[in-house]
Amino acid sequence: MENIVRSLTEKYFKSENIAAISVLDNRVIVTLQNIPEDKNAAEALKADILQSTAAQKVNIIFSYAKPVSNLNEEPQMWQIRNVKKIFAVASGKGGVGKSTTAVNLALALSSLGKKVAVFDADIYGPSIPTMLGFEGQPAISYDGKNFEPFEALGLQAMSIGSLIDRDTPIIWRGAKACGAIEQLLTEVNWGEIDIMIIDMPPGTGDIQITLSQRLKIDGAIIVSTPQDIALIDAVKGVNMFKKVNIDILGIVENMSYYICPKCGNRDEIFGYAGAKETAEKLGVKFLGEIPLNFAIRADADNGKPIVAAEPQSPYAQAYINIAKKLI
Ligand SMILES: Nc1ncnc2c1ncn2[C@@H]1O[C@H](COP(=O)(O)OP(=O)(O)OP(=O)(O)O)[C@@H](O)[C@H]1O
Ligand SMILES: [Mg+2]
Repeated sequence: MENIVRSLTEKYFKSENIAAISVLDNRVIVTLQNIPEDKNAAEALKADILQSTAAQKVNIIFSYAKPVSNLNEEPQMWQIRNVKKIFAVASGKGGVGKSTTAVNLALALSSLGKKVAVFDADIYGPSIPTMLGFEGQPAISYDGKNFEPFEALGLQAMSIGSLIDRDTPIIWRGAKACGAIEQLLTEVNWGEIDIMIIDMPPGTGDIQITLSQRLKIDGAIIVSTPQDIALIDAVKGVNMFKKVNIDILGIVENMSYYICPKCGNRDEIFGYAGAKETAEKLGVKFLGEIPLNFAIRADADNGKPIVAAEPQSPYAQAYINIAKKLI
C-alpha cells in the first residue's frame, strides 16, 4: 500500500488537480481538486491513475476536495485559544533558513521571558520536529477532544509533520492541507502563550493565503538571503502580506556573511546587505543579519538550535537582538 502511495505521489506531485493521496482501511484515497471544466480531462486523469495501479490490484477511491476560498469571500476566522500574538516567519524562496530562524527566534523570545509556541505549517517539508527534537504523534487530551502540544526546550510546539510519516512522501495541498492545519492549530490545548511563531511553507501559495485570511496574524517576519533571486521572491512575500493587511515586522537577512573559523577572513558568499536595501526600498524594517555558520546548521540538525545550545555565542546573540526588536 505504501509503495502505491509513494509511486503515485512521485508521479503526480506536480499535478494541481490532486489535493491528497492517502490510505484508509486498505484503500487508497485520491482526492481531486480544481477539476477542469472539461470533464474528459478529469476522466483521463482518473483512468491514468487506475491504469498505473492496475497491476497492484488495489482499491482506489476518488474523492473531491472543496475549493479553497478565494480572497473575495468573507473568511471564517480560526480561533486559537490562549494565544496572545501570532507572528508568521515566511520567505518567498525555499531553503533560505526560515525554519532555522523561526526556532531560534522562538527560543530567543523565550529566553527574554515570553511564553512561546512554535507552529510548523510547512506541508512540503516540515522540519520543526527535527529542529526541536521531538517526534511521534501528538497526545490526545484526557477528555479526548484536543491534542496536547509537544513540549521542547521550554517551548510548546505542533507540526504538520506530526501527522505525516517522515519517510513517506505525500501529496497534501489545497483544502486538504488547510483542514489539517486548522485542526492542528485550533484543536490544541495550548498553554497561556504570549507569542506563537508560525513557520510558513515557502512561497505565496494557497496555504499561505488561507493562513493569512483565517488567522489573526499580528505580524510577518520575512527571511531572505542576500541574493537577488531570493530577494525578488521576498518582495512577493511582503506584497502578499500587505495585500491581506498583515503588518510586516521586518526582513531578516540570513546567511549574510561567513567568518572563517581558522583565519577570521570574512566572505560574503551570497552578496551582502541586499536584504537591507530591499527593506528600505519596500519601506519595511530591517531586523538584522545572521551569518552563515557551521554551528547554526549543526545545532538545528541535532534538535537543539544555537540559541538553546550556545546562548552566549555571538550567533545566538544575533537572534536575541532581533527578538528584542520584535518585543
Ligand atoms: N545561518 C545559517 N548558517 C548555516 N546554516 C544555515 C543557516 N540558516 C539555515 N541554515 C541551514 O540551511 C538549510 C536550510 O535552512 P532551513 O531549513 O531553515 O530553510 P527553510 O527556508 O526553512 O527551508 P524550506 O523552504 O525547505 O522550509 C538547513 O540545513 C539549515 O541548517
Ligand atoms: Mg523550513
